[in-house]
Amino acid sequence: MREERPLFQVELPNGVPLWLVTRYADCRAGLGDARLSNRIGTRIVAKDVLPAEIRASMGTHMLRVDGTDHTRLRRLVSSVFTAKRIERLRPMIEQMTSDLLDKMAVQEHPDAIRDLAYPLPMQVICELLGVPVTDHERFRTWSNAYLAGVGTQNFPVDVVTEFVHYVRDLVEQKRAEPDDKLLSAMISARDDEDRLAENELTSMCFLLIIAGYETTVNLLGNGTALLLADPALAEGLRADHEAIPGAVEEFLRFESPVPGASFRVATERLELGGQVIEEGELVLISLLSANRDERVFTDSMTFDAERSPNQHMAFGYGMHYCLGAPLARLEAHIAFRQLLERFPKMERLDPSADLKWRPGLVMRGLTELPVKLNQ
Ligand code: HEM
Repeated sequence: MREERPLFQVELPNGVPLWLVTRYADCRAGLGDARLSNRIGTRIVAKDVLPAEIRASMGTHMLRVDGTDHTRLRRLVSSVFTAKRIERLRPMIEQMTSDLLDKMAVQEHPDAIRDLAYPLPMQVICELLGVPVTDHERFRTWSNAYLAGVGTQNFPVDVVTEFVHYVRDLVEQKRAEPDDKLLSAMISARDDEDRLAENELTSMCFLLIIAGYETTVNLLGNGTALLLADPALAEGLRADHEAIPGAVEEFLRFESPVPGASFRVATERLELGGQVIEEGELVLISLLSANRDERVFTDSMTFDAERSPNQHMAFGYGMHYCLGAPLARLEAHIAFRQLLERFPKMERLDPSADLKWRPGLVMRGLTELPVKLNQ
């Protein structure tokens, strides 16, 4: 497609048509083009599928708006996610990782996804937001079902409704008993200065829970699978920890955890990559394809932990560039360093078995990765 039809008309499993953009330059141009809006309304999940009040409570967040609304919503939380603030979380994340690896060490059937890739990002984002640890498993069930259903005929209305009710209850609970965590800070921004509508508050929560951990799970999982497939790479990184950040950038490029940017809609007729897009048409920008574009990356289909420069777009580009990139990177640096140190002889339980990928369009990651620790 990159070679012959860089803008390709496709249909989502639920029948919605859209333009798939596959070349790096077009993807970048598309993400930087204000005429491609994030306000897609009810185009992907039809009006009659999800009750309006549930839709509003989960879909009024920064990734669904543009312009001044976007700036206002992003600014409310952006100070929490700067590289400097995030670096302060290092000791906490190191401790969480080491505790998880302790538990993994005594598992009868250790699994790198279940024992590390899932719980670590979930614990971190819950701690930041001030969400009870006991709710982790419910999040996993809800957000897995939600993400698998986007763009399909089986959009899980019940699951999403339950999730929204949970978030509303949580907000009420924090209103009654505030703490010093992010969710309480967002509530006081709403209540004191009226900078945040109630729907925006619950939607922000929904976005941060999902964007904050489902993505990083896949970075940790995909990276672990790449390490297990290449013992020389693992050995090299163990000997030189300074090389881990470079390898993480290549994990992000080569097996991009978020394969596509969120859907965009053309607010007017425009041209992208030589193709006319009519007003109202939808566009899906493939970050995974952009990151494998041979026009930009030499030997683009080959994993190269020392690739430099590595201008991948795994965190997007432009106004909606990932807010959590410093957090995702920090978690990955810590997790891979500890994993390599702690289980130097770890290997896949069955190296000949096919990797099991998650269903759905929204995330690229593994459902399981059974391992032998060989301690
Ligand atoms: C490896 C991990 C991650 C990847 C690959 C990733 C990827 C992305 C991408 C591609 C976008 C842009 C989507 C678009 O333009 O449509 C994005 C936006 C966003 N990400 Fe991440 N993300 C990761 C981790 C995180 C974490 C840990 C957080 C924590 C809070 C987070 C929060 C957000 C938010 C809030 C946005 C929306 C920003 C905006 O609309 O201005 N992400 N992410």
